[in-house]
Amino acid sequence: MDCFGEILIGWYEEHKRDLPWRDTKDPYKIWVSEVILQQTRVVQGYDYYVRFMKRFPDVRSLAEADEDEVLRYWQGLGYYSRAKHLHEAACSINERGCFPSTYDEVRALKGVGEYTASAICSFAYDMPVAVVDGNVCRVISRWAGVEEPIDTAEGKKTIAALAENLLIKNDSARYNQAIMDFGALQCVPFSPRCDACPLVETCAAYRKKLVAFLPKKRHKQSVTHRYFIYFHVRFGEYTFIYKRTDKDIWRNLYEFPLMEVESELKEEDLFSHPLFRRLFENAQVKSIRLVEKNVKHVLSHQTIHADLYDVLLDESKEWGQSFMKIPESDLYKFPVSRLISHFFSLLLKPNN
Ligand code: ADE
Repeated sequence: MDCFGEILIGWYEEHKRDLPWRDTKDPYKIWVSEVILQQTRVVQGYDYYVRFMKRFPDVRSLAEADEDEVLRYWQGLGYYSRAKHLHEAACSINERGCFPSTYDEVRALKGVGEYTASAICSFAYDMPVAVVDGNVCRVISRWAGVEEPIDTAEGKKTIAALAENLLIKNDSARYNQAIMDFGALQCVPFSPRCDACPLVETCAAYRKKLVAFLPKKRHKQSVTHRYFIYFHVRFGEYTFIYKRTDKDIWRNLYEFPLMEVESELKEEDLFSHPLFRRLFENAQVKSIRLVEKNVKHVLSHQTIHADLYDVLLDESKEWGQSFMKIPESDLYKFPVSRLISHFFSLLLKPNN
């Protein structure tokens, strides 16, 4: 009788997705694809990958690019530290002259964790290491009937040990791709089609009627709500932006002047708010207009509620704030978050 891994590979040969990073053994291309796919689904990441590869086909082209340009190619994918780390690591690989070839060296690259290192080493170098992402975790915890929460140290250890045992060591690249696709397409989180599953006969969760309850998690994530008020400040043909530098979301991306408040702020309370007064002190505000209220932008651990105001300044006075003053027509040249890009498109509409 075929074992777990052989059944998975058989399923994969029939159902695998044709993905561009699967036609290569080039560690650079595999690395970029895995970093894109760290927090992005294949359907969303696909076009980004193709575009990124066209512009940065090798380590050198990425290393020699400006960080702002790399971020622009990442724009909309979120988790921008991925792009910054990718760029930083490309510079160090370029300096050393070749892509690292041992697991430890790959793991030491900026932005490369255990998962990504295993994926690169298995897919590019056929090393016998198991790749364990969310999909793999689900498949294994169901098939083996792991009832420990998978977000605890013990649960992770159990899954890692099973993953190592189940790996087909002399065909690791194909096996790892197979189990990832199986999790993404067949053993899906909700309502999987167990009646059409080739592993159903040996699946512990199916036997114990636990499919809907596995994998278990101990910690439910709580979401923080944040309230941002942005100002599109116009000064003749100029507008103002700045680069976010805090260790927070959207680091190194550009955006409009902003005030963050603790809870939703009504329009009539805006002008008396101390942050508004400080932001616009010494400014001659000619007019101010609400463009859009409470745009919700959902990130993994926080939801941003954003308002956008359009502010017209009197051109006869300089605004003494330390923002970059740029021609409005240059806005598109800067890497921005998806939220700010949404605001750009609103501002470009004829009535705005
Ligand atoms: N998700 C993460 N890496 C992947 C890969 N190589 N193929 C398909 N989905 C993935």
